[in-house]
Amino acid sequence: MTTPLIEEIQTEVHKRRTFAIISHPDAGKTTLTEKLLLFGGAIRLAGTVKARKSNKHATSDWMEIEKQRGISVTSSVMQFDYEGNRVNILDTPGHQDFSEDTFRTLTAADSAVMLIDSAKGVETQTKKLFQVCSKRGIPIFTFINKMDREGQSPFELLEELEQVLGIRSYPMNWPIGSGKQFCGVYDRQHVQLELFQGGEHREIQVSKVSGYRDPLVKEIAGEFLFKQLCDDLELLDVAGDPLDLEKVRRGELTPVFFGSAINNFGVQTFLDNFLELAPYPEPRNSSVGVISPFGEKFTGYVFKIQANMNPAHRDRIAFLRICSGKFERGMSVKHVRIGKDIKLAQPQQFLAQDRDIVDTAYPGDIIGLFDPGIFRIGDSLSQGGDVVFDELPTFSPELFCKVTVKNALKQKQYQKGVDQLTEEGTIQVFRTISGFDETILGVVGQLQFEVFEHRMKSEYGVEIQLHRANYAFARWLVDDKIDPSKFRINSTLVKDKKDNYVALFENEYALRTAVEKNPTAKFLEIAP
Ligand code: G4P
Repeated sequence: MTTPLIEEIQTEVHKRRTFAIISHPDAGKTTLTEKLLLFGGAIRLAGTVKARKSNKHATSDWMEIEKQRGISVTSSVMQFDYEGNRVNILDTPGHQDFSEDTFRTLTAADSAVMLIDSAKGVETQTKKLFQVCSKRGIPIFTFINKMDREGQSPFELLEELEQVLGIRSYPMNWPIGSGKQFCGVYDRQHVQLELFQGGEHREIQVSKVSGYRDPLVKEIAGEFLFKQLCDDLELLDVAGDPLDLEKVRRGELTPVFFGSAINNFGVQTFLDNFLELAPYPEPRNSSVGVISPFGEKFTGYVFKIQANMNPAHRDRIAFLRICSGKFERGMSVKHVRIGKDIKLAQPQQFLAQDRDIVDTAYPGDIIGLFDPGIFRIGDSLSQGGDVVFDELPTFSPELFCKVTVKNALKQKQYQKGVDQLTEEGTIQVFRTISGFDETILGVVGQLQFEVFEHRMKSEYGVEIQLHRANYAFARWLVDDKIDPSKFRINSTLVKDKKDNYVALFENEYALRTAVEKNPTAKFLEIAP
């Protein structure tokens, strides 16, 4: 039965698009985000996001990072309204802030925008983030940036998407020239020209045309570029993939847009097409089956905890992705893991610059909850019933350290700290199984070590020393009969906190050899 509440939820869900931008540092994510926010009128001054970013770059010193937490949290989620849509952009920090949080944040997105520098093509961090999205099967939209600079040819770039990432593509628009000759894009979907005027005002002119052979295209592009455009588009029409929306939904085909974020060029075409094609908040799997976003009962899960927002109060913010129902300030919900009702009294929502108290929110939205230490990553909140959302994946670390506790008498506090910080997802911990018990910490970003060391000292009073271990890869081992001696040859065999076997390798060669020598074993990049 449809109730007024369900109708309200349906309307709100259909309006929403929640996505993350994935890219390698310097591809232009900050610039693109800023332009998108400008379209939504969420920020008045260009340069706001930029200013925040340059702060963040000033230093990697932990105290500085901590000070900046107050700033960067506002950027963890940015929300704006555009043409009747409510858009939530999830920030996926790069640079020295890159961590497992970055991966986990992707689980809260319903789609991803992959931003690529036209000269550099697919870079390492993009590849890693792409793989996480690809495993979830979410739609991925590609924006090829910096077309105002000399870069690779559009066909080369599409080929690279297929070769490196294994995804086929459908160009939604096509550049007319590039670098200094770049004069616009032809929008294949809306059959129109978007013209790049360059100059100080960076004006954009949109003209409807009858097709790419329209005389207006020739007039604007000139004989040479016109011929090139026609040849390219003919080839695409004949040999390219069709725009199969089902494949887009399953993440098997990526719609590609060419543009230049700094010049605000191609951004609007991108936004309009993206909002048309990107999915609204999707159903989620849980212990009681699939949870539809249209359900009346409120549910959500914590995907990120930001600690030390204010060191004096040790406050933390738990970021909750709403999965179903309607959120209302002050409502009581069940914290399923601890089996108690809690009141969501001062939830926050994040606009481009400010944190605001939020009164209502719907599926797809992210709210920040003050956390007096009651939340863990992956915790589910639900109104009525014990809904537990699928556990968040644990990703393979790439940097490793051994730990010594400076004061042996602090062993107990150290253990408590390790337990809590692993639960929060700050680091992963492994234990060696040979001889004496040793701890090895694993992370995907250096910052996680700094955070761990700092919090151990400030919150648990334990001074530690970290010693870099030379491993580069971790793989969870799934084998019916694990014989630890077999895995000692090329790797160190350890156990994770759930007692799963994990093999640590120093290099790719060692990993490959182990895979070859153990054909019955599975070596997983994500914990089973
Ligand atoms: P990020 O967040 O992905 O790390 O990238 P960011 O937006 O900071 O952009 C990285 C650099 O690329 C910046 O230059 C930015 O101005 C430039 N950029 C972004 N989009 C475009 C584009 O469409 N065309 C060109 N030519 N450049 C672009 P910077 O020199 O590092 O910083 P700034 O001095 O310009 O602020």
